[in-house]
Amino acid sequence: MAEAFEDKIAPDQPDKMVVRGLEGVIAAETRISWVDGAQGQLYYQGYNIHQLAEKVSYDEVVYLLWNGELPTVAQLKDLKRRLAEEMCLPKPVYKWMKSLPRKTPPIAVLRTAVSMLGLFDPEAEDISPQSTLRKAVQLVAKVPYIVATLHSFRHGREPAKPDPDKGLAHNFLSIFIGDKLDEEIEKAVDLLFVLHADHGMNASTFTARVVSSTLADMYGAVSAAIASLKGPLHGGANEKVMEMLEDIAHPKYVDLYIEGLMNNKQRIMGFGHRVYRTEDPRGYHLKKWSKKLCERNENCKLFEISTRIEKKVKKAKGINPNVDFYSATVQHVLGFSKIYYPAVFACGRISGWTAHIMEQFADNRLIRPTSRYLGQYGRKFVPLEKR
Ligand code: SDX
Repeated sequence: MAEAFEDKIAPDQPDKMVVRGLEGVIAAETRISWVDGAQGQLYYQGYNIHQLAEKVSYDEVVYLLWNGELPTVAQLKDLKRRLAEEMCLPKPVYKWMKSLPRKTPPIAVLRTAVSMLGLFDPEAEDISPQSTLRKAVQLVAKVPYIVATLHSFRHGREPAKPDPDKGLAHNFLSIFIGDKLDEEIEKAVDLLFVLHADHGMNASTFTARVVSSTLADMYGAVSAAIASLKGPLHGGANEKVMEMLEDIAHPKYVDLYIEGLMNNKQRIMGFGHRVYRTEDPRGYHLKKWSKKLCERNENCKLFEISTRIEKKVKKAKGINPNVDFYSATVQHVLGFSKIYYPAVFACGRISGWTAHIMEQFADNRLIRPTSRYLGQYGRKFVPLEKR
């Protein structure tokens, strides 16, 4: 055992490349969605997003991501009923939500609330397919319900009762806004959820798969995914986009502002993507709705600022808006305050996370990469009194 300790540097592993950010590394096989970065296309279970956006409801997309097929009328009716039934929380969670400081970011409330839900589920640790599907239904319903209920509490209202015949977007809005709903607003929210539902191996989905690959429970995997989504390089970007639009305040200041960011080598929020080498197809629909809703409100300033930024950044850096750029204006015109934007992103993405967790459980292998050790080894130990 008395090996001669000497400061040695770990042997290099020339055959092993470090891939920073795992760029381009295939970490899993999936049938849930495909992000075709070269062509700028997105497919949910084989359907192009342009075939689904504005043509199917978010509830249909939930069914599709889980089952690989679009639902029949009867299957959709049953799913809507089950989701509406699950739009409720254990009493202590309501109480806890009311006890929070008003400024607590909704995405942080959501992260902890989902983790709390696991404490009240006697089957939390059961990862059988039927128990996992039951939890998936619960979480797809409860995530938007938590966000909407938090908003209603903060506006002095108790959450409205969900309607089992209506979809998730309708029930989310009826609780979030509380007023009489208007069809176009409902369509916009439904579209937001559809466009945010899934997106290949993005950071938060990968997080969910890593956690579920240890056979940990779905609540833990989803709260970890929410923690990952919260970051401004991921689902937190939409809120930063709105801050930028508010800072710029008028189209005439766009050039100066963006040049300032670029000169300081700062990232322009809502632009760029790890996979898309051309337009993000979701941006097409969000830009269209951003214009439509701004015109409906007879106030197109935000849309004008956004299109000027898009033109300027495209020309200067050759990068396109991603999902977060125009979704900021859409949510603003819907009357949502920007601190809710990352949580609204999660209201759609919960369907993709649950689908990926089910897929991971169904054919699991512990996700455990390796690393290149740069340090020394076998160092000579010197006891404290001699140091
Ligand atoms: C989402 O993965 C997904 O699918 C995510 C998502 C989903 O649905 O799940 O699509 C949702 O998270 C969208 C991204 C939201 N984040 C932002 O909008 C934050 C701003 N974007 C960037 O930080 C960046 O584009 C990332 C993080 C999104 C992607 O970064 P990469 O792949 O690591 O790219 P990179 O940092 O290596 O940049 C490559 C080049 C660099 O130029 P050089 O320094 O080599 O000259 O592009 C430039 C970057 O400077 N660049 C940007 C930029 N994004 C990339 N320059 C200015 N502003 C930007 N936003």
